[in-house]
Amino acid sequence: DPALVEAGAKVFKKCAACHKVGEGAKNGTGPMLNGIVNRGAGTVEGFKYSKPLQDMAAAGLTWDAASLHAFLENPKAFMKGTKMSFAGLKKPEERDAIIAYLSTFAE
Ligand code: HEM
Repeated sequence: DPALVEAGAKVFKKCAACHKVGEGAKNGTGPMLNGIVNRGAGTVEGFKYSKPLQDMAAAGLTWDAASLHAFLENPKAFMKGTKMSFAGLKKPEERDAIIAYLSTFAE
């Protein structure tokens, strides 16, 4: 849905200070997010994740639509102790849009 992707590009402005996507995207405050949708958590090369994220990754967390909704709605509730300092996206439509947008960036 191109309209949803377009909406997601706008929502991504809330993430862009810490996360990059697209060709040549590098890690910054947060890991680069190319290929994040349906990938195992904590697997971006060269990024130093928090202990809680590493623990959830070891327990099998994959970033599918359901887990991304849960994390992005309230990061610190979903993952106690995460170092992602972000209040969350309270509107489900914003989360749907960002997931559609992120899905357009392959590895
Ligand atoms: C981690 C998405 C906003 C900093 C993550 C992860 C995702 C994500 C999916 C997990 C990555 C992985 O497992 O490889 C988003 C989205 C945002 C957003 C979609 C906007 C809606 C932010 C902001 C910051 C930030 C604003 C900085 C102030 C981080 C950090 C981590 C992280 C430091 C690593 C967390 C840890 O190791 O506990 N983000 N993020 N993010 N993000 Fe964000």
